[in-house]
Amino acid sequence: MEGVIDVITRDLLTARGGFDWAVTEFVRVTDTLLPPRVFHRICPELVHRAETSCGTPVHLQLLGSNPERLGDNARRAAELGAPCIDINFGCPAKTVNRHDGGASLLKTPQRVEAVVAGVHRALEGSGIPVTAKLRLGFEDKRLAVACAQAAEAGGAASLVVHARTRREGYRPPAYWQWVRRIRQHVSVETVVNGDIWTLEDYQRARAISGCDHVMLGRAALADPLLAARIRHWQATGEHQPPTRWQDRSTILKEYAYQASQSVPEKVVVSLLKQWLNIMRQHDRDAAERFVELRRIRELSPFLQTLNPSDHSEREEKEEAFTALQTDRQ
Ligand SMILES: Cc1cc2nc3c(=O)[nH]c(=O)nc-3n(C[C@H](O)[C@H](O)[C@H](O)COP(=O)(O)O)c2cc1C
Repeated sequence: MEGVIDVITRDLLTARGGFDWAVTEFVRVTDTLLPPRVFHRICPELVHRAETSCGTPVHLQLLGSNPERLGDNARRAAELGAPCIDINFGCPAKTVNRHDGGASLLKTPQRVEAVVAGVHRALEGSGIPVTAKLRLGFEDKRLAVACAQAAEAGGAASLVVHARTRREGYRPPAYWQWVRRIRQHVSVETVVNGDIWTLEDYQRARAISGCDHVMLGRAALADPLLAARIRHWQATGEHQPPTRWQDRSTILKEYAYQASQSVPEKVVVSLLKQWLNIMRQHDRDAAERFVELRRIRELSPFLQTLNPSDHSEREEKEEAFTALQTDRQ
């Protein structure tokens, strides 16, 4: 997810379990063959067999509209070690759509097919699959099935369908029943995506769409233990307790620690606020903390406010240690 799921986030989230694979932010392809460093910047995992530290495969996403150039870049990504090339047909950003990428291609199913076919041809013989990430349409859903069929005809090995049109943005609801309709008209595996925030949403999304698998978007950030909770339920039928603030703040702190090795602290704070902003929409503790945290610009006070109990715990330990030293003297 562009701007919110980078290599550190992928690593921290997949380490908590439950993910079969992750996807990079998109690599934007215009009319050139991009140098390897661009692929390595967006997918640093390429140097580690394109897996996160815990071994979860990372698929590389391309965004663009020129079938030949996308093909050239897909081939390069595959040579660099990408295990799967995903094509973005969902991005709603105006600048992207003005340049004819992302969701704007959904206006013309033939173009969806041409793009997927361009990449599929380029990857022929490599054993690397191409997949498509679709929305239900641009303005409306009239071409939803046609676009999915076009992606399949172009050679997509599987589809992920974000169950909204571009016009519907990210607003609830997600129309999971439309994914069922799509499934009835394609034979490749189709994964449902959109508005899956809880285990119960996961169960309903599967029941309504008929899909075996789901993709988590914002909820992966909002509840870093959701994927593991779903996995646990699949294995045991048990419902684990809700994720505690402690677990959420821990991952934020881990992110802060790792990101601050390579990014200025002020940028780390704004990235943390962005993450917390997604968390707060579905968690009362995160919402409360956000009110206090949104004005803080420096990393150290930010982290202290994130989890004041840590701070007082540390102070208590320091006081106890000082007392011990004094006693000894
Ligand atoms: C900030 C943000 C960035 C996103 N970037 C991408 C992206 O680069 N590629 C992509 O396929 N989808 C992207 N998406 C869409 C998500 O993958 C997902 O389809 C969408 O958020 C719906 O799922 P959700 O309701 O579970 O979040 C992005 C979504 C958000 C909110």
